[in-house]
Amino acid sequence: MQPSNSTTLNSATLSSTFTSTTPASTAPLSTTPASAAPASTTPIVAGSSGLISVYDPDPLFVLKGYKVWQGRRYVRCFQPADNSKAALNVEHAVYQRLGSHPGILKYGGRVAVADNVYFLKLERAEGDLRSLMPRYSIPPDQARLRMAIQIASSISYLHSKGIFHCDLSCRNVFLFHDWVVKVGDFGGSKIDSQYPLAAEEVRYELPLRGRDWEKRSYVKRELFALECAIYEIMAWERPFPELTDAEVEANYKRETFPIVDGLPAGDIIHSCWKEEFERAEDVEAALRREIGRESGLGAWNASAHLKGLFDWIFR
Ligand SMILES: Nc1ncnc2c1ncn2[C@@H]1O[C@H](COP(=O)(O)OP(=O)(O)OP(=O)(O)O)[C@@H](O)[C@H]1O
Ligand SMILES: [Mg+2]
Repeated sequence: MQPSNSTTLNSATLSSTFTSTTPASTAPLSTTPASAAPASTTPIVAGSSGLISVYDPDPLFVLKGYKVWQGRRYVRCFQPADNSKAALNVEHAVYQRLGSHPGILKYGGRVAVADNVYFLKLERAEGDLRSLMPRYSIPPDQARLRMAIQIASSISYLHSKGIFHCDLSCRNVFLFHDWVVKVGDFGGSKIDSQYPLAAEEVRYELPLRGRDWEKRSYVKRELFALECAIYEIMAWERPFPELTDAEVEANYKRETFPIVDGLPAGDIIHSCWKEEFERAEDVEAALRREIGRESGLGAWNASAHLKGLFDWIFR
């Protein structure tokens, strides 16, 4: 089944997509009239670093902020608001530095929703890939390889700009029509030498392998997370979905990883888990070779098939 076109989305679709996420700590607020009329927004869901709402004046975008406004009052505030504000500032700085890239969510800048309250205006996706996976049967190999290439290319671009995502996962990869994916949610990212506000989720975390936690390089950490995202796309499920985080951590410590035999790009995933890649662009190049090899095989099969048909007609 193909995903629905993003232009057909409505708040109901989004709300049902988003309710599967872990709600952040939020507190309902008493109705506080704003002195200036805020941009009207429709609340959707809380993430762990902010609140997402549909931006009513431009439904192709969502707003990400620490409060949700409806009409002239705000109805929900992220707690603690200061953490959310700090993450939003980082995310704004990242989007400004990144500019436009086909594999990164479009950024519409900051929008004033009330006096001195600014939220991030972000391209509206169908939702995050992980939440949407159960809705769709597994896409064809070529589509999954294309998704993997898009993510590897985005991560390579990020690194070329002095940024590490630091929380890359299919939770922060957003899905669009025709299996186009874009990376987003940069609130925990590392810019230059700044200390990041987030770290990878347990199933995406590079094992220590004798190193101290902070001695593991950010490149290696991100490449491990990239490979876990590619695994999740190829297997259409997280690594070891049946195990708890602690059990997965113990597995990784014993160098036990999910079986990749028979998966597209299985060898690439395995090499990256073993830290055999140095740069995201090398992963991207390997994936491009893989997709070329697969489509080459397809072409060969097609020509063999046509030759067989030709022989049959003219025998
Ligand atoms: N640009 C977007 N378009 C559509 N849905 C979005 C967009 N950005 C976020 N969402 C959705 O809003 C919800 C919250 O997203 P957000 O990334 O802020 O938090 P999260 O992923 O739950 O937490 P975390 O900060 O740990 O990643 C998620 O369900 C996500 O799918
Ligand atoms: Mg997220």
